[in-house]
Amino acid sequence: MPTHFSQPSSSLNAFAPRLLDWFAENGRHDLPWQQHQTDTPNPYIVWLSEVMLQQTQVTTVLPYFARFMDTFPTVQDLAAADWDLVAEHWAGLGYYARARNLHKGAKQLVAVIDETGNFPQTLAGWEAISGVGPSTAGAIMAMGLHHYGVICDGNVKRVLTRWAAIDGDITKSATTKELWALAERLTPRENSGLFAQAMMDMGATLCTRSKPACLLCPLKDDCLAHAEGRETDYPVKAKKQPKPSKFSNALLIENTDGEILWIQRPDNGIWGGLWNLPLQFVEKVTGKVTGKSQNTANNTSLDVRSHEKVYEAEFTTAEQIINEWLAENKLVAESISRTLLDDDPIKHSLTHFHWYLTPQSLTLNAKQTAEIREALQAADINIHWLNAVDAQATLGLPRAMVKILEVFF
Ligand code: ADE
Repeated sequence: MPTHFSQPSSSLNAFAPRLLDWFAENGRHDLPWQQHQTDTPNPYIVWLSEVMLQQTQVTTVLPYFARFMDTFPTVQDLAAADWDLVAEHWAGLGYYARARNLHKGAKQLVAVIDETGNFPQTLAGWEAISGVGPSTAGAIMAMGLHHYGVICDGNVKRVLTRWAAIDGDITKSATTKELWALAERLTPRENSGLFAQAMMDMGATLCTRSKPACLLCPLKDDCLAHAEGRETDYPVKAKKQPKPSKFSNALLIENTDGEILWIQRPDNGIWGGLWNLPLQFVEKVTGKVTGKSQNTANNTSLDVRSHEKVYEAEFTTAEQIINEWLAENKLVAESISRTLLDDDPIKHSLTHFHWYLTPQSLTLNAKQTAEIREALQAADINIHWLNAVDAQATLGLPRAMVKILEVFF
Protein backbone atom coordinates (compact mmCIF):
# COMPACT_ATOMS: atom_id res chain seq x y z
CA MET A 1 0.00 0.00 0.00
CA PRO A 2 1.47 3.41 -0.88
CA THR A 3 2.13 5.90 1.92
CA HIS A 4 2.77 9.59 1.79
CA PHE A 5 6.22 8.92 3.23
CA SER A 6 9.28 8.18 1.11
CA GLN A 7 9.57 4.75 2.75
CA PRO A 8 7.19 1.84 2.02
CA SER A 9 4.85 0.52 4.75
CA SER A 10 7.00 -2.56 5.24
CA SER A 11 9.97 -0.39 6.20
CA LEU A 12 7.86 1.93 8.34
CA ASN A 13 6.50 -1.08 10.22
CA ALA A 14 9.90 -2.72 10.68
CA PHE A 15 11.55 0.43 12.04
CA ALA A 16 10.48 0.13 15.70
CA PRO A 17 11.09 -3.62 16.12
CA ARG A 18 14.55 -3.31 14.57
CA LEU A 19 15.43 -0.32 16.70
CA LEU A 20 14.13 -1.91 19.90
CA ASP A 21 16.04 -5.14 19.27
CA TRP A 22 19.19 -3.13 18.77
CA PHE A 23 18.51 -1.11 21.93
CA ALA A 24 17.95 -4.23 24.03
CA GLU A 25 21.33 -5.61 22.93
CA ASN A 26 23.45 -2.50 22.46
CA GLY A 27 21.74 0.52 23.99
CA ARG A 28 22.66 2.36 27.17
CA HIS A 29 20.76 1.02 30.14
CA ASP A 30 22.67 2.52 33.02
CA LEU A 31 22.08 6.26 32.69
CA PRO A 32 20.92 7.49 36.09
CA TRP A 33 17.76 9.16 34.79
CA GLN A 34 16.48 6.19 32.82
CA GLN A 35 13.11 4.90 33.93
CA HIS A 36 12.47 2.07 31.51
CA GLN A 37 13.39 -0.64 33.99
CA THR A 38 10.95 0.48 36.67
CA ASP A 39 7.17 0.20 36.83
CA THR A 40 6.91 3.40 38.85
CA PRO A 41 8.70 6.05 36.77
CA ASN A 42 9.55 9.40 38.33
CA PRO A 43 8.60 12.28 36.02
CA TYR A 44 10.68 14.75 38.06
CA ILE A 45 13.85 12.85 37.17
CA VAL A 46 12.97 12.72 33.48
CA TRP A 47 11.96 16.39 33.35
CA LEU A 48 15.17 17.50 35.11
CA SER A 49 17.46 15.35 32.97
CA GLU A 50 15.73 16.25 29.71
CA VAL A 51 16.11 19.97 30.38
CA MET A 52 19.80 19.42 31.20
CA LEU A 53 20.26 17.32 28.05
CA GLN A 54 18.53 19.83 25.76
CA GLN A 55 21.79 21.41 24.63
CA THR A 56 24.39 19.46 26.54
CA GLN A 57 25.95 16.04 26.10
CA VAL A 58 25.39 13.09 28.39
CA THR A 59 28.94 12.97 29.75
CA THR A 60 28.83 16.64 30.72
CA VAL A 61 25.40 16.34 32.28
CA LEU A 62 26.14 13.30 34.48
CA PRO A 63 27.93 15.06 37.39
CA TYR A 64 25.54 18.04 37.30
CA PHE A 65 22.54 15.72 37.39
CA ALA A 66 24.02 13.87 40.38
CA ARG A 67 24.57 17.11 42.30
CA PHE A 68 21.09 18.37 41.50
CA MET A 69 19.49 15.13 42.69
CA ASP A 70 21.61 15.25 45.83
CA THR A 71 20.61 18.78 46.75
CA PHE A 72 17.11 18.83 45.24
CA PRO A 73 15.82 15.24 45.46
CA THR A 74 12.24 16.29 44.77
CA VAL A 75 10.54 18.96 42.72
CA GLN A 76 9.39 20.55 45.98
CA ASP A 77 13.02 20.92 47.09
CA LEU A 78 13.91 22.60 43.80
CA ALA A 79 10.89 24.92 43.88
CA ALA A 80 11.67 26.01 47.45
CA ALA A 81 15.39 26.61 46.83
CA ASP A 82 16.94 30.05 46.56
CA TRP A 83 17.79 31.02 43.00
CA ASP A 84 21.45 31.52 43.96
CA LEU A 85 21.72 27.89 45.03
CA VAL A 86 20.12 26.70 41.78
CA ALA A 87 22.41 28.97 39.74
CA GLU A 88 25.43 27.67 41.61
CA HIS A 89 24.44 24.09 40.80
CA TRP A 90 23.91 24.99 37.15
CA ALA A 91 27.02 27.15 36.70
CA GLY A 92 29.12 25.75 33.87
CA LEU A 93 26.31 24.01 31.97
CA GLY A 94 25.64 27.17 29.94
CA TYR A 95 22.43 28.43 28.37
CA TYR A 96 21.29 29.88 31.68
CA ALA A 97 17.76 30.52 30.45
CA ARG A 98 17.33 26.79 30.96
CA ALA A 99 18.21 27.10 34.65
CA ARG A 100 15.81 29.98 35.14
CA ASN A 101 13.08 28.03 33.36
CA LEU A 102 13.87 24.99 35.46
CA HIS A 103 13.43 26.94 38.69
CA LYS A 104 10.26 28.59 37.42
CA GLY A 105 9.03 25.25 36.05
CA ALA A 106 9.56 23.59 39.45
CA LYS A 107 7.29 26.19 41.04
CA GLN A 108 4.68 25.65 38.32
CA LEU A 109 4.86 21.88 38.82
CA VAL A 110 4.42 22.20 42.57
CA ALA A 111 1.35 24.37 41.94
CA VAL A 112 -0.09 21.65 39.67
CA ILE A 113 0.70 18.95 42.23
CA ASP A 114 -0.87 20.97 45.05
CA GLU A 115 -4.00 21.39 42.96
CA THR A 116 -4.37 17.95 41.37
CA GLY A 117 -2.31 15.71 43.63
CA ASN A 118 -0.01 14.73 40.79
CA PHE A 119 2.38 15.81 38.06
CA PRO A 120 0.73 16.87 34.80
CA GLN A 121 -0.61 13.81 32.98
CA THR A 122 -1.11 15.25 29.49
CA LEU A 123 1.12 16.57 26.73
CA ALA A 124 -0.53 19.99 26.95
CA GLY A 125 -0.04 19.98 30.73
CA TRP A 126 3.72 19.50 30.30
CA GLU A 127 4.00 21.96 27.42
CA ALA A 128 2.56 24.60 29.76
CA ILE A 129 5.66 24.29 31.99
CA SER A 130 8.44 26.84 31.36
CA GLY A 131 11.26 25.46 29.26
CA VAL A 132 9.33 22.39 28.09
CA GLY A 133 8.84 22.26 24.32
CA PRO A 134 6.95 19.63 22.33
CA SER A 135 9.80 17.13 22.19
CA THR A 136 10.70 17.41 25.88
CA ALA A 137 7.00 17.09 26.74
CA GLY A 138 6.79 13.97 24.55
CA ALA A 139 9.88 12.52 26.25
CA ILE A 140 8.38 13.11 29.71
CA MET A 141 5.05 11.57 28.70
CA ALA A 142 6.78 8.51 27.26
CA MET A 143 9.71 7.99 29.64
CA GLY A 144 8.60 9.79 32.79
CA LEU A 145 4.99 8.58 32.92
CA HIS A 146 5.05 5.51 30.63
CA HIS A 147 2.18 7.08 28.72
CA TYR A 148 2.23 7.52 24.95
CA GLY A 149 4.65 10.22 23.82
CA VAL A 150 6.58 11.13 20.68
CA ILE A 151 9.96 12.85 20.54
CA CYS A 152 11.46 14.73 17.63
CA ASP A 153 14.60 16.50 18.87
CA GLY A 154 17.81 17.20 16.96
CA ASN A 155 19.09 13.63 17.24
CA VAL A 156 15.82 12.17 16.00
CA LYS A 157 15.70 14.64 13.13
CA ARG A 158 19.15 13.56 12.04
CA VAL A 159 18.21 9.87 12.11
CA LEU A 160 14.94 10.40 10.26
CA THR A 161 16.21 12.79 7.58
CA ARG A 162 18.86 10.20 6.73
CA TRP A 163 16.65 7.15 6.89
CA ALA A 164 13.93 8.70 4.72
CA ALA A 165 16.23 10.99 2.68
CA ILE A 166 14.27 14.08 3.68
CA ASP A 167 16.16 16.94 2.09
CA GLY A 168 14.07 19.93 3.18
CA ASP A 169 15.73 22.56 5.37
CA ILE A 170 15.09 21.37 8.94
CA THR A 171 14.85 24.95 10.17
CA LYS A 172 11.70 25.38 8.02
CA SER A 173 8.31 24.60 9.50
CA ALA A 174 7.19 22.45 6.55
CA THR A 175 10.14 20.11 7.16
CA THR A 176 9.55 20.12 10.91
CA LYS A 177 5.94 19.08 10.28
CA GLU A 178 7.02 16.29 7.96
CA LEU A 179 9.51 15.00 10.53
CA TRP A 180 6.98 15.06 13.35
CA ALA A 181 4.49 13.18 11.17
CA LEU A 182 7.13 10.54 10.42
CA ALA A 183 8.16 10.30 14.10
CA GLU A 184 4.51 9.77 15.04
CA ARG A 185 4.05 7.12 12.35
CA LEU A 186 7.12 5.22 13.62
CA THR A 187 6.49 5.44 17.37
CA PRO A 188 4.75 2.33 18.71
CA ARG A 189 1.65 2.87 20.87
CA GLU A 190 3.08 0.49 23.45
CA ASN A 191 6.56 1.13 24.77
CA SER A 192 6.91 4.62 23.37
CA GLY A 193 9.29 5.38 26.27
CA LEU A 194 11.61 2.58 25.32
CA PHE A 195 11.38 3.70 21.69
CA ALA A 196 12.24 7.30 22.66
CA GLN A 197 15.27 6.16 24.65
CA ALA A 198 16.35 3.91 21.78
CA MET A 199 16.06 6.76 19.26
CA MET A 200 18.16 9.02 21.48
CA ASP A 201 20.80 6.32 21.84
CA MET A 202 20.87 5.66 18.10
CA GLY A 203 21.31 9.35 17.37
CA ALA A 204 23.96 9.84 20.04
CA THR A 205 26.04 6.70 19.53
CA LEU A 206 25.59 5.44 15.94
CA CYS A 207 23.91 8.01 13.72
CA THR A 208 26.31 10.75 14.73
CA ARG A 209 26.75 14.03 12.91
CA SER A 210 30.04 13.57 11.13
CA LYS A 211 31.05 9.88 11.30
CA PRO A 212 27.97 7.67 11.51
CA ALA A 213 28.68 4.03 12.33
CA CYS A 214 26.43 2.69 9.58
CA LEU A 215 27.84 -0.84 9.67
CA LEU A 216 26.47 -1.29 13.18
CA CYS A 217 23.12 0.32 12.43
CA PRO A 218 19.95 -1.78 12.68
CA LEU A 219 18.32 0.46 10.04
CA LYS A 220 21.04 0.36 7.41
CA ASP A 221 19.23 -2.06 5.08
CA ASP A 222 16.56 0.47 4.15
CA CYS A 223 18.27 3.76 5.07
CA LEU A 224 17.93 5.84 1.90
CA ALA A 225 20.88 8.12 2.66
CA HIS A 226 23.09 5.09 3.30
CA ALA A 227 22.02 3.52 -0.01
CA GLU A 228 23.33 6.62 -1.76
CA GLY A 229 26.41 6.92 0.45
CA ARG A 230 25.21 10.40 1.35
CA GLU A 231 24.63 10.05 5.11
CA THR A 232 26.43 13.24 6.04
CA ASP A 233 24.48 15.31 3.50
CA TYR A 234 21.60 15.10 5.98
CA PRO A 235 20.07 16.91 7.77
CA VAL A 236 19.93 19.89 5.43
CA LYS A 237 20.14 23.11 7.37
CA ALA A 238 20.31 26.68 6.09
CA LYS A 239 23.74 28.24 6.67
CA LYS A 240 23.81 30.43 9.70
CA GLN A 241 24.98 34.03 9.59
CA PRO A 242 28.29 34.39 11.41
CA LYS A 243 27.79 35.44 14.99
CA PRO A 244 28.59 39.03 15.93
CA SER A 245 31.38 39.67 18.42
CA LYS A 246 31.32 41.89 21.46
CA PHE A 247 34.39 43.23 23.13
CA SER A 248 34.25 44.18 26.78
CA ASN A 249 36.55 44.84 29.67
CA ALA A 250 35.87 42.70 32.72
CA LEU A 251 36.63 44.84 35.76
CA LEU A 252 38.38 43.23 38.70
CA ILE A 253 37.57 45.99 41.19
CA GLU A 254 39.26 45.14 44.49
CA ASN A 255 38.98 46.69 47.92
CA THR A 256 41.93 47.00 50.29
CA ASP A 257 41.17 43.53 51.70
CA GLY A 258 41.71 41.99 48.27
CA GLU A 259 38.02 41.28 47.82
CA ILE A 260 36.49 41.68 44.37
CA LEU A 261 33.23 43.45 43.56
CA TRP A 262 30.57 41.07 42.16
CA ILE A 263 27.25 42.22 40.77
CA GLN A 264 24.17 40.15 40.11
CA ARG A 265 22.91 40.44 36.55
CA PRO A 266 19.22 41.14 35.95
CA ASP A 267 16.97 38.09 35.55
CA ASN A 268 16.35 38.69 31.87
CA GLY A 269 19.09 38.70 29.29
CA ILE A 270 22.42 37.05 29.09
CA TRP A 271 23.66 35.29 32.25
CA GLY A 272 20.41 36.36 33.90
CA GLY A 273 20.49 36.14 37.68
CA LEU A 274 24.15 35.07 37.78
CA TRP A 275 27.01 36.89 39.48
CA ASN A 276 29.48 38.70 37.28
CA LEU A 277 32.40 41.03 37.26
CA PRO A 278 31.16 44.43 36.08
CA LEU A 279 31.73 44.74 32.36
CA GLN A 280 32.79 47.78 30.46
CA PHE A 281 31.52 47.80 26.92
CA VAL A 282 34.18 48.44 24.30
CA GLU A 283 32.60 47.60 20.97
CA LYS A 284 30.37 45.29 19.04
CA VAL A 285 31.37 43.94 15.67
CA THR A 286 29.01 42.31 13.25
CA GLY A 287 30.30 39.77 10.77
CA LYS A 288 33.16 37.40 11.14
CA VAL A 289 36.24 38.43 13.09
CA THR A 290 39.34 36.94 11.54
CA GLY A 291 42.95 36.99 12.53
CA LYS A 292 44.19 38.11 15.89
CA SER A 293 41.51 40.12 17.56
CA GLN A 294 42.01 42.52 20.39
CA ASN A 295 39.66 44.91 21.98
CA THR A 296 42.05 47.72 22.60
CA ALA A 297 41.18 51.12 21.23
CA ASN A 298 44.36 51.42 19.21
CA ASN A 299 43.93 48.10 17.51
CA THR A 300 42.99 48.24 13.87
CA SER A 301 43.50 44.67 12.76
CA LEU A 302 39.87 43.60 12.81
CA ASP A 303 38.68 42.34 9.49
CA VAL A 304 35.02 43.16 9.75
CA ARG A 305 32.09 44.07 7.59
CA SER A 306 30.80 46.79 9.83
CA HIS A 307 31.45 48.34 13.20
CA GLU A 308 28.86 49.73 15.47
CA LYS A 309 29.24 51.28 18.82
CA VAL A 310 26.19 50.71 20.89
CA TYR A 311 26.93 51.79 24.38
CA GLU A 312 23.80 52.26 26.42
CA ALA A 313 21.99 49.16 25.21
CA GLU A 314 24.85 46.95 26.28
CA PHE A 315 25.05 47.98 29.91
CA THR A 316 23.12 46.69 32.86
CA THR A 317 22.05 49.38 35.31
CA ALA A 318 24.76 48.27 37.74
CA GLU A 319 27.40 48.60 35.06
CA GLN A 320 26.18 52.04 34.07
CA ILE A 321 26.44 53.18 37.67
CA ILE A 322 29.91 51.72 38.07
CA ASN A 323 31.20 53.05 34.77
CA GLU A 324 29.80 56.52 35.39
CA TRP A 325 31.24 56.55 38.89
CA LEU A 326 34.64 55.49 37.54
CA ALA A 327 34.51 58.23 34.91
CA GLU A 328 33.46 60.90 37.42
CA ASN A 329 36.30 59.92 39.71
CA LYS A 330 38.73 59.71 36.81
CA LEU A 331 39.56 56.15 37.76
CA VAL A 332 40.88 53.96 35.00
CA ALA A 333 41.24 50.22 35.28
CA GLU A 334 44.54 48.92 34.07
CA SER A 335 45.30 46.04 31.84
CA ILE A 336 46.74 43.13 33.63
CA SER A 337 49.68 41.55 31.95
CA ARG A 338 48.84 38.01 31.08
CA THR A 339 51.82 36.12 29.84
CA LEU A 340 49.70 32.99 29.89
CA LEU A 341 47.31 34.27 27.31
CA ASP A 342 49.72 36.18 25.14
CA ASP A 343 47.52 39.23 25.64
CA ASP A 344 44.58 37.78 23.76
CA PRO A 345 41.24 38.50 25.31
CA ILE A 346 39.34 35.56 26.75
CA LYS A 347 36.92 34.35 24.11
CA HIS A 348 33.59 33.05 25.23
CA SER A 349 30.98 31.92 22.73
CA LEU A 350 27.31 32.28 23.56
CA THR A 351 24.26 31.37 21.49
CA HIS A 352 24.02 34.62 19.60
CA PHE A 353 27.49 36.14 19.79
CA HIS A 354 31.11 35.71 20.77
CA TRP A 355 32.22 37.67 23.76
CA TYR A 356 35.83 38.77 24.00
CA LEU A 357 36.63 39.74 27.57
CA THR A 358 39.74 41.61 28.59
CA PRO A 359 40.27 41.61 32.34
CA GLN A 360 41.31 44.98 33.82
CA SER A 361 42.15 45.63 37.42
CA LEU A 362 41.62 48.50 39.81
CA THR A 363 42.05 48.77 43.57
CA LEU A 364 39.85 51.14 45.53
CA ASN A 365 40.68 52.75 48.85
CA ALA A 366 38.26 52.52 51.78
CA LYS A 367 36.47 55.77 50.96
CA GLN A 368 36.01 54.81 47.31
CA THR A 369 34.79 51.35 48.30
CA ALA A 370 32.14 52.89 50.55
CA GLU A 371 31.08 55.31 47.82
CA ILE A 372 30.55 52.71 45.14
CA ARG A 373 28.76 50.43 47.59
CA GLU A 374 26.36 53.22 48.45
CA ALA A 375 25.76 54.13 44.80
CA LEU A 376 24.86 50.53 43.98
CA GLN A 377 22.76 49.96 47.07
CA ALA A 378 20.81 53.14 46.38
CA ALA A 379 19.76 51.55 43.08
CA ASP A 380 18.79 48.27 44.82
CA ILE A 381 21.53 46.29 43.14
CA ASN A 382 22.74 43.11 44.79
CA ILE A 383 26.50 43.08 45.27
CA HIS A 384 29.11 40.96 47.01
CA TRP A 385 32.72 41.65 47.91
CA LEU A 386 34.41 38.27 47.78
CA ASN A 387 37.86 37.04 46.87
CA ALA A 388 38.23 34.72 43.90
CA VAL A 389 38.18 31.50 45.91
CA ASP A 390 35.09 32.39 47.94
CA ALA A 391 33.29 33.73 44.88
CA GLN A 392 33.81 30.47 43.03
CA ALA A 393 32.72 28.46 46.03
CA THR A 394 29.58 30.37 46.91
CA LEU A 395 28.25 32.30 43.92
CA GLY A 396 26.72 31.01 40.70
CA LEU A 397 29.28 32.32 38.22
CA PRO A 398 29.03 31.88 34.46
CA ARG A 399 31.76 29.81 32.88
CA ALA A 400 33.37 32.92 31.37
CA MET A 401 33.95 34.42 34.83
CA VAL A 402 35.46 31.17 36.05
CA LYS A 403 37.81 31.24 33.03
CA ILE A 404 39.00 34.71 34.05
CA LEU A 405 39.53 33.67 37.66
CA GLU A 406 41.39 30.56 36.60
CA VAL A 407 43.86 32.62 34.62
CA PHE A 408 44.55 35.14 37.33
CA PHE A 409 44.18 33.40 40.67
N1 ADE B 1 19.51 13.29 25.09
C1 ADE B 1 18.33 13.83 25.44
N2 ADE B 1 17.67 13.03 26.29
C2 ADE B 1 18.46 11.95 26.50
C3 ADE B 1 18.34 10.78 27.30
N3 ADE B 1 17.27 10.59 28.04
N4 ADE B 1 19.33 9.87 27.26
C4 ADE B 1 20.39 10.10 26.49
N5 ADE B 1 20.58 11.18 25.72
C5 ADE B 1 19.62 12.11 25.73
